[in-house]
Amino acid sequence: MSYLSHLECSLTGQRYDADQVIRLSDAGQPLLARYDLAKAAAELDRDALLQRPCDMWRFCELLPVRDPHYITTFGEGGKPVLKLDQLGPQLGLNHLYLKDEGQNPTGSFKALGLAAAVSRARELGVTEFVIPTAGNAGGALAAYAARAGLRAHVYMPQDAPLININEVQMTGADLRLINGLINDAGREAAADAIVGGWFDVSTLKEPYRVEGKKIMGYELAAAFNWELPDVIIYPTGGGTGLIGMWKAFAEMEEMGWIGGQRPRMVAAQADGCAPVVKAFHEGWETTQPWENASTLAGGLRVPVTIGGRLMLQALRESEGTGVMVSDGRIFEAQQLLARSEGIFVSLEAAATIAALQELVAQKWLHPDERILVFNTGSGLKYRLLLS
Ligand SMILES: Cc1ncc(COP(=O)(O)O)c(C=O)c1O
Repeated sequence: MSYLSHLECSLTGQRYDADQVIRLSDAGQPLLARYDLAKAAAELDRDALLQRPCDMWRFCELLPVRDPHYITTFGEGGKPVLKLDQLGPQLGLNHLYLKDEGQNPTGSFKALGLAAAVSRARELGVTEFVIPTAGNAGGALAAYAARAGLRAHVYMPQDAPLININEVQMTGADLRLINGLINDAGREAAADAIVGGWFDVSTLKEPYRVEGKKIMGYELAAAFNWELPDVIIYPTGGGTGLIGMWKAFAEMEEMGWIGGQRPRMVAAQADGCAPVVKAFHEGWETTQPWENASTLAGGLRVPVTIGGRLMLQALRESEGTGVMVSDGRIFEAQQLLARSEGIFVSLEAAATIAALQELVAQKWLHPDERILVFNTGSGLKYRLLLS
């Protein structure tokens, strides 16, 4: 069913066999899945796919799992694009939308990436996983591994939200609370993975989480009748969603599903940890580690990322930008959205609303543009800090 053909180094373009358990390229860079898109274009009818059940697997030919038997699912994907008819006009915007990934299983968009990665790794014979996580990805891995009957080891900062700790514990996964940040958790996870022979599904260090996340790009094109919005604002940590959507747009164009128009991609980060925004404005080719990273939006507290170069490419090629906002503005934006639209989003997603306000103030947005923000996680997973 999958048109997966091979893997490709995102830096050098070197080709790799896709039917092996593999993580990074020889250059130490993320591997990207490539598909036979000419065949897909000839055989797939984009609108017929929308008649299938409404989850991410309706695009299964463009996902990496070859045998449907291995698909591990809770029905992730297919979440709505909502028009923000109160908040938009309040901000002077006539076409403001939110794609609500907070409605996914385990309450965040991490479900999409982990559904793809666990399903494909399982098909390739992996039985034991390890993940460093700010919280939500660990909760998702724990759930998908449990559903597949496989073992998960989750390395999480000890100050992660209690619900993330609970959701991992509930599945019986092995939880290690780390005195440090996600990159410290990553170091310990990587060392233990070698000893234990576990498969490390760290962000962009295996090829398939980004494949699940790219489906958000397919879905939003479908929601806009195979056009794309003018601007997308995305809460950026490790960057899989940004990179995945950018990849989805290129695939869809190659198949003739969309034209060449691209949204201006905007990375929203917290000012206590904004390596992508800083690198963008400094004109750097890749990101530098952020010292003393600190923000209560835990998914944005990612001081080091292997996807820096790819994210910056997407921001620059799209003529987008990066915006950093304070935690105070994030809390205010979280309440503003809930009060104006009834949508209770994660702090990470609230950063996109705060960034939106900043871009309105800068007159970077036109009132008639179609602007889309992402809710990447449900606010129900967070301790409430009402002012
Ligand atoms: C709710 C939420 N939003 C955004 C992010 C950042 O996502 P990405 O790593 O794709 O940039 C995370 C990551 O933990 C998250 O949990």
